[in-house]
Amino acid sequence: LHIAVLMGGWSSERDVSLTSGNGVADALETLGHKVTRIDMGHDVAIKLHEAKPDVVFNALHGTPGEDGTVQGLMDLMGITYTHSGLTTSVIAIDKELTKQQLVPHGIRMPTGKIVDSESLYEADPIPRPYVLKPVNEGSSVGVAIVKERDNHGTPIHRDAHGPWQRFDTLLAEPFIKGRELTVAVLGDRALCVTELVPTSGFYDYEAKYTDGLTTHVCPAKIPADVEASAMQMALDAHRLLGCKGTSRSDFRWDDEQGEAGLYLLEVNTQPGMTPLSLVPEQAKHVGMTYAELVQAIVDEAVK
Ligand code: DAL
Ligand code: MG
Repeated sequence: LHIAVLMGGWSSERDVSLTSGNGVADALETLGHKVTRIDMGHDVAIKLHEAKPDVVFNALHGTPGEDGTVQGLMDLMGITYTHSGLTTSVIAIDKELTKQQLVPHGIRMPTGKIVDSESLYEADPIPRPYVLKPVNEGSSVGVAIVKERDNHGTPIHRDAHGPWQRFDTLLAEPFIKGRELTVAVLGDRALCVTELVPTSGFYDYEAKYTDGLTTHVCPAKIPADVEASAMQMALDAHRLLGCKGTSRSDFRWDDEQGEAGLYLLEVNTQPGMTPLSLVPEQAKHVGMTYAELVQAIVDEAVK
């Protein structure tokens, strides 16, 4: 096949996407496909029109590759592409819209509140400790945890430096103490539960992409009921949102509450494909090489 790999772009996850995309492109070449690497820019329609690929492998993260924009363009152009389509992408990139879609179906997610960042200086939006995050970023970009004693328990100081300053609208969610889990879904199968154990602090951007800063325990050493529930929730979320190819669902688990302490945080429709990424690692756990994983994602798109 002639496969165009879309990567790069202008989101805050540009570098992650370039690493994902080049890894995917290398693998597709070893599989014997003809590959065109496309660095996503405003001229992407022209580049796609010139390349005339049989299928596009979407290796973009964040805006505009994960939020439906590129999906809509490719729909218009009649181009076949990997991963989720327009509507799914629009919903899944937005953590609040995702909740509105999944919670009525019985998927347990933390109850958050949308706040404008100015109001944070007046009062805490919800009781501490809480997490502040942009509704539509990935890789923990812009995420901050507000703890009981921060600023002596009074609202965030206007002069305090924090990632919330870069966003007008934020999602405040109760901080769920305990452990960080993730489950990849490939096709109609949940692969495995991985526990992420950051060496210090939380699983932020640096911990995600610096070798050695996070230990991945795959499969996670957790009770069987929690494991089964996480796999089922990831599969249900994938189906309810209409995800295609692969998705990865991220969880927090309050281990003092047993299975009832398991909360889905979000569904990633364009999960990372870098050497440190979780989907390739879980694929390996079920006996698939990186190249076989990439081929399986292409197969689902062209079938
Ligand atoms: N947003 C990053 C790429 C991930 O979900 O893996
Ligand atoms: Mg994410």
